Amino acid sequence: MNEFVLNHPLITHKLAILRDINTGTKEFRELVTEISTILMYEAMWDAKLEKTTIETPLEKMETGMLNEDNYAIVPILRAGMGMVDGILNVIPNVKIGHIGLYRNEETFEPVEYYYKMPDGIGSREVLVVDPMLATGGSASATISRLKRDGVSKIKLLCIVAAPQGIKTIEDEHPDVKIFCATVDRELNENAYILPGLGDAGDRVYGTK
Ligand code: PRP
Ligand code: URA
Repeated sequence: MNEFVLNHPLITHKLAILRDINTGTKEFRELVTEISTILMYEAMWDAKLEKTTIETPLEKMETGMLNEDNYAIVPILRAGMGMVDGILNVIPNVKIGHIGLYRNEETFEPVEYYYKMPDGIGSREVLVVDPMLATGGSASATISRLKRDGVSKIKLLCIVAAPQGIKTIEDEHPDVKIFCATVDRELNENAYILPGLGDAGDRVYGTK
């Protein structure tokens, strides 16, 4: 099992509002941000800290701090951008790369149209973010592209995952751990997640 699912009544509550067809753009964005913050905490559970000495008002202490330069996040355009603010709540100085992919409406295959990564991407741990993992084609293509640039440590953060998408990542990238808020039932004939939340990009940007 390569996936970690947020299992908490308050996440179910937030997802209920997020999924609801009557939830407007502002609240949708706020909930995506909030859930992304929580996902990011979970995804960083194994973060390596660098030893440091600080001084409290009472005494010196040895503790650990995160070196944000060891990381990058890569939102998959467009919908992945909706998760960035939530992640920056956790690691505000992290470098951000962008990949633009859209799904061909007939084949559901991802088509890349943009790719720009921070310097030294190959030596960073990369967190790929996209609210929807449907067939898994977009996430898998992103991960393959990053691996071609030498990235060896990759995690995938998504809000709603379909079993098929999880299987795609497990089959094609067994080294990549998936952190998601929920695993939904299945895909429909248009490769949309059921029950899902609709088109995440349209709901984040209010385009439909
Ligand atoms: C959505 C979503 C993922 C992809 C998931 O993006 O944000 O990137 O579909 O589907 P898959 O797992 O079957 O590849 P879309 O292609 O609709 O583009 P958009 O974010 O620009 O709306
Ligand atoms: N992309 C979305 O935005 N929603 C889905 O359900 C599937 C792919």
